[in-house]
Amino acid sequence: MSRALRTTVLISGSGSNLQALIDACGAGKIPAQIIHVISNVAAAPGLQRARQAGIGTSVLEHGGFADRADFDRALALLIAAGEPQLVVLAGFMRIIGPAVLEPFRGRIINLHPSLLPLYPGTGTYQRALDAGDRQHGASIHFVTGELDGGPVISQVVVPVLAGDDAASLAARLGPQEHRLVVATVELFATRRVESRDGDVLVDGERLARPLRLQADDRLVA
Ligand code: GRF
Repeated sequence: MSRALRTTVLISGSGSNLQALIDACGAGKIPAQIIHVISNVAAAPGLQRARQAGIGTSVLEHGGFADRADFDRALALLIAAGEPQLVVLAGFMRIIGPAVLEPFRGRIINLHPSLLPLYPGTGTYQRALDAGDRQHGASIHFVTGELDGGPVISQVVVPVLAGDDAASLAARLGPQEHRLVVATVELFATRRVESRDGDVLVDGERLARPLRLQADDRLVA
């Protein structure tokens, strides 16, 4: 596994997306290795998932820090200690600033439950329902200083069905997010994707629109 992409995952909660990555790496489905899991919430159930898989964990709660910049500096050091090649924010519910973004620019991605640029921020399911959208989805994007605003790499779409509420829509999207995060980390692990001048390059070509996840788990332009 020496060539496996060294990946650090940041979480705040359940860690079901982390689990999908652990499973895919463990099964040899993607040439990546989760080397470190960091949570800003000590009680995050995802930490237990990591421990069960024998992955080193760290907890960094912002309560102990004077301000946001102080926390970010500590987080950057903690991430850097593992020497990751990729940092995945998978349900990490905290905005991070330049101290983290600068050293890892182009190597930090975030999973967000909407078809960006629609609905950055929270409450995406209800916002999609309120707007009468016929479809919803999830996106993975490079993290920049703008909340949920960096270049979008990949998306998965689910239908909005009559009678849906936020919970049913979230339940439909969850398993699709798991597929999306695995397929997108595979793109990094196989060195097929990079960020350049605010664009996403896949196999050296600029993406005109995000890749879409297909039923057979392929990401297609
Ligand atoms: C996911 O829905 C993701 O889109 C959002 O937070 C949730 C994380 O779920 N950012 P989990 O912790 O991976 O189960």
